[in-house]
Amino acid sequence: MKKIIKGKLLSSISPLEILYLDPGYLIISEDGKIEEIGKEMPKGAGPDSEYLDFSSKLICPGFVDIHNHLPQFTLSGLYRGNLLEWLTDIIFPVEERFSSPEVAEIFAERFFQELLSKGTTTTSSYVTIHKEATEVAFKCAKKSGIRAFLGNVLMDQNAPEHLIKDMQVLMRDSSDLIEKWEGHDNGRLHYVLTPRYAPSCSFELLQGIGQIAKKFDVHIQSHLAESKAEIAVVMKTYSDFENYTDIYLKAGLLTEKTTMAHCVYLEDEEIKMLKNTGTKISHCPSSNLFLQSGIMPYRKLEKSGIPIGLGTDVGAGYSLSMFSEMREAIESSKTIHFLDPSANYKPITSTEAFHLATLGGAKALSIEDETGSLEKGKSADFSVIDIAQLDVCGEDFFSKPEDLISKLIYGNGENYIEKVFVRGKQVFNK
Ligand code: GUN
Ligand code: ZN
Repeated sequence: MKKIIKGKLLSSISPLEILYLDPGYLIISEDGKIEEIGKEMPKGAGPDSEYLDFSSKLICPGFVDIHNHLPQFTLSGLYRGNLLEWLTDIIFPVEERFSSPEVAEIFAERFFQELLSKGTTTTSSYVTIHKEATEVAFKCAKKSGIRAFLGNVLMDQNAPEHLIKDMQVLMRDSSDLIEKWEGHDNGRLHYVLTPRYAPSCSFELLQGIGQIAKKFDVHIQSHLAESKAEIAVVMKTYSDFENYTDIYLKAGLLTEKTTMAHCVYLEDEEIKMLKNTGTKISHCPSSNLFLQSGIMPYRKLEKSGIPIGLGTDVGAGYSLSMFSEMREAIESSKTIHFLDPSANYKPITSTEAFHLATLGGAKALSIEDETGSLEKGKSADFSVIDIAQLDVCGEDFFSKPEDLISKLIYGNGENYIEKVFVRGKQVFNK
């Protein structure tokens, strides 16, 4: 049955433009696509459509979290110094527990539920090195209704013994998982090749991953230039290379389907490499602050024309809420101004942050034809937000969409999410 949705429709058109229809209407086809969007009650609905009246509520596109770690989410907020110490002390021990598929299932079920409850309808997530745990994660994602890009973390060096595997085994694991899960359920689930980062991969492994990516035309995700200490390790391990990015470039890992997380410390030459190969950036501001890694120079990277999306990077990020991540993107960009007032740095606006969390993320994953905004022909992926609770006096303070977005970003907007839909089907109800 078709659905007609009435509500206050909010959607990003570009980093500078918002669509806001109050009231607005969506017609959703039986197969979960937006058939019509407009200001009037649509004509094409027919008498046997289901009518959902959310007149006082906001209809917001599902968020796209392009970088996070499934096994880490219960550990977010545990601080142990910078990236390298934190990985050793906190993260690797919990990832070892994923040798048990039962543990993986408990984590994965909770993880996807939490994401959906916070309005995230698309996630790109690292699992662990374990093939079975990754299978379990796919099954849980399938059941939850979320859109997901999932990958087993690939490592063959420089990590605890139980978290590395021989390259040949890793290549086979990846091929099997691709065969089974890539494009599953009409493109709702995807496999993503996930070399953790250069220090924990031999060059042969990185090259092997590049070959698999080419053969199967699948996505790749990894970390790049996150902290100064990390870069020092990388350049010691890979002393023959020009810079950090050059390693990934020479291994064939920079493609139009690659996202690189962090990118805090890139030289101009490296920015060009990313731009020329069509690589995308996952901006992870809360994680960059939490681990004291640094602040990504957003305007410089934006100016280079590299597409950028937002990643919570849980558990170095401390919340799966994309409202929280938008807030950190804005606040950390303000600090760049204090560091160098003469540079006249313009902080990220709430409208831009909203774009990064929705359509920008979809573009970074090359799925903007499918999701990321409320547009005719796209999948009906959205949340219903009870904004009346923000305005206790009923005085309609937030009738300007940019104020509304700002209020949600700074007021823990995730608390007001009532329902979430993917492909027109309800996948979360408070
Ligand atoms: N670099 C390599 N692994 C990780 C990880 O798990 N989290 C973060 N933030 N950076 C990494
Ligand atoms: Zn990460």
